[in-house]
Amino acid sequence: MNMRASHLAFHPVDALAALCKAGGDPLRLNVLRALANDSFGVLELAQIFATGQSGMSHHLKVLAQAGLVATRREGNAIFYRRALAQGERLGGTLHAALLDEVDALALPSAIQARIAEVHGQRAAASQDFFARTAASFQAQQDLIAGLPQYRDSLLSLLDALGFAAQATALEIGPGDGAFLPELARRFGQVTALDNSPAMLELARTRCEQEGLGNVELRLADALNDDYPAADCVVLNMVLHHFAAPAEALKRLARQVNSGGSLLITELCSHNQSWARQACGDLWLGFEQDDLARWAVAAGLTTGESLYVGLRNGFQIQVRHFAKPDEHTGPRAALSHR
Ligand SMILES: C[S@@+](CC[C@H](N)C(=O)[O-])C[C@H]1O[C@@H](n2cnc3c(N)ncnc32)[C@H](O)[C@@H]1O
Repeated sequence: MNMRASHLAFHPVDALAALCKAGGDPLRLNVLRALANDSFGVLELAQIFATGQSGMSHHLKVLAQAGLVATRREGNAIFYRRALAQGERLGGTLHAALLDEVDALALPSAIQARIAEVHGQRAAASQDFFARTAASFQAQQDLIAGLPQYRDSLLSLLDALGFAAQATALEIGPGDGAFLPELARRFGQVTALDNSPAMLELARTRCEQEGLGNVELRLADALNDDYPAADCVVLNMVLHHFAAPAEALKRLARQVNSGGSLLITELCSHNQSWARQACGDLWLGFEQDDLARWAVAAGLTTGESLYVGLRNGFQIQVRHFAKPDEHTGPRAALSHR
């Protein structure tokens, strides 16, 4: 037997030791806490924890080796996120318990303030993009996925939900308002909410041209301002512009009336980083499982999903999430029985 090789051989106990070591540091525990519902790049984490980039890289390496964080490549950038605990694997129970304990901690207020700063920087970049590019909006959208490519799928999902004629709809980020005529035809009252004055102006022109009398346009930020809830909340190609999508889903779930629906059209995860510059995207699409997990964490249940493949290589996901009715259960459950 080769003694040297057997000495070096990886032993399961090493994995447990790596897990304990990774958890044995206050900064690393706080990093795990900060990653509860978000993912950050190493520079963002260095900013949030007011530490040098190389120090942060070291901590992330230790967390990654212990299987506590995973990376996701977004074009040229690497984002860190929590790895999910896998109960059946060695250390899985300890991993899950560690995350439970970490989630009971409150992050120090200075760290929370710097997370808000990073979110603010992301949101400002997105807002700035739409202020600059409203004039060429349609061309911008067509680069990846315009409404004509997912309209039929979205409408088939929407129509299957069978909303009453007097039900209300809320479209977040209507862009040039191309989907508003469809909503106006199907709902008693529609609110369209956008935080870009230039984009809202495009939507206003569309509503006037189409004579949509039941659409109210509001200049407001979907994540920070107050606005009324609706029976059906629609987001088409908007979530990837939000600084913190998982947190955003929690906020949006609150805007859905009990028994109502959240419909999300989004890009599936992709690797075409040019979309950041060309289309102002903060995130390069989303994993289907992530959207479902975030929605469930926001108190919604998963309904029907449709997927549309495009010739340019992008894939679109059209997702329905239902808000359980306090009395009769989720609409999705009722309509698919
Ligand atoms: C890529 S466009 C999508 C437009 C349209 N839904 C479509 O599919 O053609 C994203 C829209 O979301 C808006 N938006 C981005 N962040 C927002 C926020 N936090 N609150 C409200 N609107 C937002 C932008 O101004 C823009 O009109």
